[in-house]
Amino acid sequence: MLSSLCFPKSFECSRRYFTSNFSYSSFRLIPLLTAVADNSFPNILAILSGYSISAAREQVCDTDVKGCLDDMPMIWKYFKNASYLTGYAEDESDSNHFNYMRPGFTRKPMDYYFRPMLRALESEMDVYRLPEHDYMRYCLGRRIANRYIYNYGRQFAQRFVHERPIWGMFWSNHFSHDDTFMPSSMQEKVLGDLLDFHEDGDFEEMIMIFFADHGTRFGELTTLKEGFLEERLPMMFIYLPPWFRETYPSYAQALELNQHRLSSNYDLHNTLKHIVEIGGIPDGPELPKSFDCPTCQSLFYPLPEDRTCSQAGIVDHWCTCEPYLLLKDQEWTEPIAHSVIDRMNEYFVQKNLSKLCSNLTLNYIHKTEIKTGLDVNWYDEIKEVETSVYRIKFKVEQNSADFQATVVYNNSTQKAEVDVEKISRTNSYKEDSTCIDDKLAKLYCICFSDLKS
Ligand SMILES: *[C@@H]1O[C@H](CO)[C@@H](O)[C@H](O)[C@H]1NC(C)=O
Ligand SMILES: *[C@@H]1O[C@H](CO)[C@@H](O)[C@H](O)[C@H]1NC(C)=O
Ligand SMILES: *[C@@H]1O[C@H](CO)[C@@H](O)[C@H](O)[C@H]1NC(C)=O
Ligand SMILES: *[C@@H]1O[C@H](CO)[C@@H](O)[C@H](O)[C@H]1NC(C)=O
Ligand SMILES: *[C@@H]1O[C@H](CO)[C@@H](O)[C@H](O)[C@H]1NC(C)=O
Repeated sequence: MLSSLCFPKSFECSRRYFTSNFSYSSFRLIPLLTAVADNSFPNILAILSGYSISAAREQVCDTDVKGCLDDMPMIWKYFKNASYLTGYAEDESDSNHFNYMRPGFTRKPMDYYFRPMLRALESEMDVYRLPEHDYMRYCLGRRIANRYIYNYGRQFAQRFVHERPIWGMFWSNHFSHDDTFMPSSMQEKVLGDLLDFHEDGDFEEMIMIFFADHGTRFGELTTLKEGFLEERLPMMFIYLPPWFRETYPSYAQALELNQHRLSSNYDLHNTLKHIVEIGGIPDGPELPKSFDCPTCQSLFYPLPEDRTCSQAGIVDHWCTCEPYLLLKDQEWTEPIAHSVIDRMNEYFVQKNLSKLCSNLTLNYIHKTEIKTGLDVNWYDEIKEVETSVYRIKFKVEQNSADFQATVVYNNSTQKAEVDVEKISRTNSYKEDSTCIDDKLAKLYCICFSDLKS
């Protein structure tokens, strides 16, 4: 959750980042989760490579296959070519970005790579997990697990930032994963970590991107009205050091402006490429930009004010800018849920999972919303339309699993069109799909062997 980019320049450091004036150097990003609904990987892949999983499969390689992650044109390779030293540390050796149900790297990807040390810590130290969750490692030995990650990042910066260009990604999963309220108990500690960087003078030199890759996907927060936003708008701050703001005032101005405009992870990717170009060989070759979003751009240039989700590479299901209206009369919407469930059951057949996964049946609909134009008044009656986009959240009978889908539904044929792999699962599936390994189908499959009566 902490990524930093550093430049070897010295100017006076501003405390602004830490004190009241967050708005100058920070902005919030509308996230993009085009590839799959579920976890970190598609988001982080978009930021680091500019590819969605499916485009990577067609254009480069299949990220499920061993060796592919080594071959992908990850951003750190560009930094390395521009003579940056690279570093990366992430906690949870088997649930991290590249190893959770993925093959990981077969070669050391960065100059400074923490994983071997982490594996040793995980096997040699006493491990403490949260009693009710029993999933991620909260403490390793006498320290909170992210301590090791941030210390590694801090030492990486301490050692090199005043000397040469460096790029690093330092990421912690454990402290916000298992419990909704953990981030609030961690915030003082994270502030302490940022102040450590400040004390070391790092903010005189480096650009810091302080971000999360996705919001809460299940649990109590998703049941709130704003749960939809909770899932889609993870935090994102970008800090620019004083020397950068002075050297490139127009970039700083554009970034300030863009905090109020629609951007996505593909724009962030292009911004990283832009930074490589700024620090690289003068008049060097222009680097390839986000493959999946030709209309995306560096955040150091003003974004169009009237940008749409599709221009930012964000699909309907993840778009937070299009207004939807809650349908009060729910009864007629039941066929929508039935039709979505039909698509899911057909998916099990296509995936040859029918022998393992139970067909699903509707228990009840939580809510249904219809996509409206920007000009529709909140209080207007919904006009009759034959075909429209709906967002529907429902519960199935099997293990009370909850789902949310964005679908195109024809009210005459009563048929919904939906890409099943883009449906969100909004409660935990950990105990429902132990019979299969397919990381996407796991979201939808309720194994016969795991069925609760
Ligand atoms: C890095 O530089 C080498 C040598 O010029 C080149 O072959 C390679 O494609 C470059 N990699 C990237 C990611 O630009
Ligand atoms: C499950 O759903 C599939 C796809 O609609 C259907 O072909 C199959 O007959 C269903 N199985 C049962 C047991 O209902
Ligand atoms: C479908 O799954 C069964 C076992 O569940 C297996 O025997 C069969 O080979 C699979 N077929 C395909 C086409 O993958
Ligand atoms: C869909 O059709 C039902 C009747 O079958 C009707 O009550 C409902 O208003 C229609 N919805 C829209 C959005 O047109
Ligand atoms: C909806 O279904 C009706 C009846 O089959 C068809 O005439 C119409 O073209 C469909 N609408 C769309 C937008 O596909």
